[in-house]
Amino acid sequence: MTKRSFLIDTDTASDDAVALLMALRDPGIDVLAITVVAGNVPLEQAVQNALFTVERAGRTDVPVFAGAAAPLERELFTAEFVHGTDGMGDIGLPLAGRRPSSGHAVDVLVETIGSQPPGALTLVTLGPLTNIALAFRRDPALAARIGSMVVMGGTSDAVGNVSAAAEFNIFADPEAAAVVFASDASITMVGWDISRLYAVIDHDDAATIRGLGPLAALAMDIQAKVDVFATHETHLAGFDLPDPIAMAVALDPRVATRVEHRNVVVETRGEFTAGQTVVDHLGLTGRPPNVHVVREASRAAFIALLHERLRG
Ligand code: RIB
Ligand code: CA
Repeated sequence: MTKRSFLIDTDTASDDAVALLMALRDPGIDVLAITVVAGNVPLEQAVQNALFTVERAGRTDVPVFAGAAAPLERELFTAEFVHGTDGMGDIGLPLAGRRPSSGHAVDVLVETIGSQPPGALTLVTLGPLTNIALAFRRDPALAARIGSMVVMGGTSDAVGNVSAAAEFNIFADPEAAAVVFASDASITMVGWDISRLYAVIDHDDAATIRGLGPLAALAMDIQAKVDVFATHETHLAGFDLPDPIAMAVALDPRVATRVEHRNVVVETRGEFTAGQTVVDHLGLTGRPPNVHVVREASRAAFIALLHERLRG
């Protein structure tokens, strides 16, 4: 079976780690590299969390590279209040002392995208788009070379999770997101609406997943802090898994059951709306469609894929 080549960019915290496990344990996927960006937690912690996850997956053959430690223009805004101080639920995991591969993530993105056959590569982004924007600024031709870019970010319904209008990954670096959404990349946007509607894991769901094996149990245990945030702040029936459902769409596009080609721009100046992904649902702006916006997903397909990749 010919494997599909993936690049994954992540701000590794508790949901990113599950998404990484799903890709690293997929027999049909060749993860060429994992590039890390500051976001949920500062860069060094995100790098350590990625290295820990790769090790627990038994995939230390996959290189991890450190990237941008801050957004393009703004101050770094992190989310320890969501994921815990270490980003992995603060459950006492050994998340220090591992060494990433030498080289900067942006150089790796430029070189890897530039060396893959045009259209062959899938790029999955799970964090702020700073690394990607820096790579596209260095070589704008890179964007069109990517076969599919699956972005966990934004919302299609303007219901934010970090402000009233914005989702964290876009809110953390709106300028970077604006660069990426204005590029020639073939973007599939999996917004926080999809996570909120189709990827909420309640306590019964979590207990079932825990029973699938030690890695599955770890995947649930590291959600300890986000479980508190999700139930008390975003008022969900459990914790949601935004990066894993975005990864599921990348692994199996059939998970996305309704996708609309729409014009999407990123607000970078709004006092109350900075970081909002403004989706032109009615085509009123005359701006050409530039993003494949996931509007509906199959929770059953997502859960089945999640179980399949974590089992054992
Ligand atoms: O808004 C959810 C996104 O922000 C997820 O990628 C989560 O890991 C955080 O980065
Ligand atoms: Ca993330």
